[in-house]
Amino acid sequence: MAKKAAKKTAKKNDEKIVVTSALPYVNNVPHLGTLICVLSADVYTRYLKLRNKNVISVLGTDEHGTTTEVKAQELGITPQECVDRYFKIHKELYEWFECYFDCFGRTSSKENHEISKDIFVKLQKNGYIIEREIEQLFCTACNKFLADRFIEGKCPHCKYEKARGDQCDNCSKLLNPTDLLDARCIVCHNKPIVKKSNHLFIDLPKLQPQLESWIKTVEKTWSQNAKTTTHGWLKQGLKERAITRDLKWGIPVPGYPGKVFYSWFDAPIGYISITKETRKDWQDWWKNKETKLVQFMGKDNIPFHTILFPAFLIGADDGYILVRELSVNEYLNYESGKFSKSLNQGVFCDDAKNTGIPADVWRYYLLMNRPEESDALFTWDGFLEKTNNELVANLGNLVNRTLFFINKYYDSVVPHAHEKNLSYDAEVKKIETLLDAIKLKEALKEIMLLSKKANAYFQEHEPWKTITSDKKRADTALFHLVNLIKDLSILIHPYLPQTSAQIQQQLHLKALSWNDLKKPVPAGHKINTAALLFKKLEEKQIQRFKEQFAGKKAASGENAASLQKTTSVEKSYTADKTGVGDFSILDIKVAKVLSVSDHPNAEKLYVLQIDLGNEQRQIVAGLREHYAAEDLTGKHILVVTNLEPAKLRGEASNGMLLAAEQNGTVGVLLAEHAASGMQITVNNIAPQTKQIKYADFLQVKIIAQQGRAFWNTLALTAGGKPVTVDKNVEGLVH
Ligand code: 2FM
Ligand code: ZN
Repeated sequence: MAKKAAKKTAKKNDEKIVVTSALPYVNNVPHLGTLICVLSADVYTRYLKLRNKNVISVLGTDEHGTTTEVKAQELGITPQECVDRYFKIHKELYEWFECYFDCFGRTSSKENHEISKDIFVKLQKNGYIIEREIEQLFCTACNKFLADRFIEGKCPHCKYEKARGDQCDNCSKLLNPTDLLDARCIVCHNKPIVKKSNHLFIDLPKLQPQLESWIKTVEKTWSQNAKTTTHGWLKQGLKERAITRDLKWGIPVPGYPGKVFYSWFDAPIGYISITKETRKDWQDWWKNKETKLVQFMGKDNIPFHTILFPAFLIGADDGYILVRELSVNEYLNYESGKFSKSLNQGVFCDDAKNTGIPADVWRYYLLMNRPEESDALFTWDGFLEKTNNELVANLGNLVNRTLFFINKYYDSVVPHAHEKNLSYDAEVKKIETLLDAIKLKEALKEIMLLSKKANAYFQEHEPWKTITSDKKRADTALFHLVNLIKDLSILIHPYLPQTSAQIQQQLHLKALSWNDLKKPVPAGHKINTAALLFKKLEEKQIQRFKEQFAGKKAASGENAASLQKTTSVEKSYTADKTGVGDFSILDIKVAKVLSVSDHPNAEKLYVLQIDLGNEQRQIVAGLREHYAAEDLTGKHILVVTNLEPAKLRGEASNGMLLAAEQNGTVGVLLAEHAASGMQITVNNIAPQTKQIKYADFLQVKIIAQQGRAFWNTLALTAGGKPVTVDKNVEGLVH
């Protein structure tokens, strides 16, 4: 009997747990709002590991989807280059914040291609995939179907000129691309046409009964918002949902050339494939009925994790486990507004790192302020207040004064206790219960209350007096304080791993686990030298950050169009925007050179006839020393079309071609792939069409580098492809 029981316990402890955090999109530097979810999963996993649970954690980057394509176009690089760049940034930043994951990977991996296709094929075989014809907007100039985010036009509700195909940023109304007035392709600014295309849908109505009976078995532990959202969907009746897109960037759909999976199809499958990327035994975790799957996500991700992803797995019927517990965080807002990548508002993870304030200090504030039940607010004042009044004045002070006292009065040797006059079993139990229920903020509050209790105990026992007047009382207090600090170092580890290690180092202990909560540090144990755990934040310093970040917001507000979608990675350039001029004053178009002749009165000038798609013009250019006429003819050059017309030595010039110069060599800017008349853009900024003077043009600094042209480090593109520079000339464009 006893044997059997022992076996049972062993098995129970062996229960496998997979913890996942929603995979962040990887086309931007993550902001602190994004970090909340990653951080929460890290804290919970660390807790389970301290308790010797058999757990692995999974995180990675969500790399497909149109946002990636759009960003790549803005930067003038390929989607692959774009995700490679941001993958590295995300990984490094999460590591800096001490967020550790056993499996870290990417949804663009070979493994994710394989597993996504496999799950799709099984869904198809089991009869859950339907083909339907739908109408979509198609750009004939770019020769592609336009995803919602590739379409722009006037909002039918508020008449905002730059509403997107899926939403109006001005009035926030959700839109369909076909609702837009004067819809245009954001890449080439042409008017799209409506075209039919076949797409594959997952048959959610057919899967609804199975989903409902499974949800009944697991939802007990789900948060209220998870239950409400999920039941909302079920109650309305699930609808067929498209899982394919007409894009190039993504996982190709087997049997359907030209189509890729919708990114919300392959993103959650990424959890499985990232485990496979890292571990040979991935199936022991993901195809094992005993495994408990715990998923962390933001509230906007709920239905994808409680309905869609489970539907894929139920339909594929291949033994994959489904989510058992989930932890949903609400939003973290910034000062008086939202954290916003697109508006460049808020503190981004690299900003936080660059402040020089240690990761644990950030972790403390973010977790103490975790949007657990409702939205929370990041404020610089709150950050200062929590750091100084709690981290420094409570925990830091307790540890420092206790250990310093032992260094000084006990020659670093832990004294003997003469009675047990401090107990906190109930507190530890409460913290454990809260952590088990993933109430991370509540548990942290309790830990800090325990630290406060220890400070009060220190005050009450007045060791600085009793060390001479009543040594037994001082000895007893210091013994219990050391032990409580040891326990605090364990309890705080999931939250502040570096601080926990520092406390243990000062205590001359190492890598304690949850079981060590019950094992006392004995009298006679020699500790190390005490050192301050935290530095107080200076008001002046915080004031500076406040101004710096307010300035950043103002800079983006001042020219929202041109700075939209720039983040702190690009911040160093946008900050210096005055030095690079305003690109949006230039209306640059692709022009085909029809003919080139010598200027009759100037030996350095040519007269060119050019085709701009809907009109032909004459321009004069000083290229005679640099190009033979036949080398220019037929080329697709770039012309500023809104310069005021001029006469150069008697010849009319209606526009100016762009060329770069380096030590006397001149190379023209080219867009050989693009049709005449195609708009040149950076960052999808639409130009104003007002006429400008040559002096205005000179304010805008366009630079040729490595065969491409950039304004403000953003590549000039035509139809989404970067412009090139002839002869690889590097230097200023004029
Ligand atoms: O909302 C987001 O940031 C998504 N990239 C989350 C994806 S979660 C998972 F399914 F990959
Ligand atoms: Zn187009």
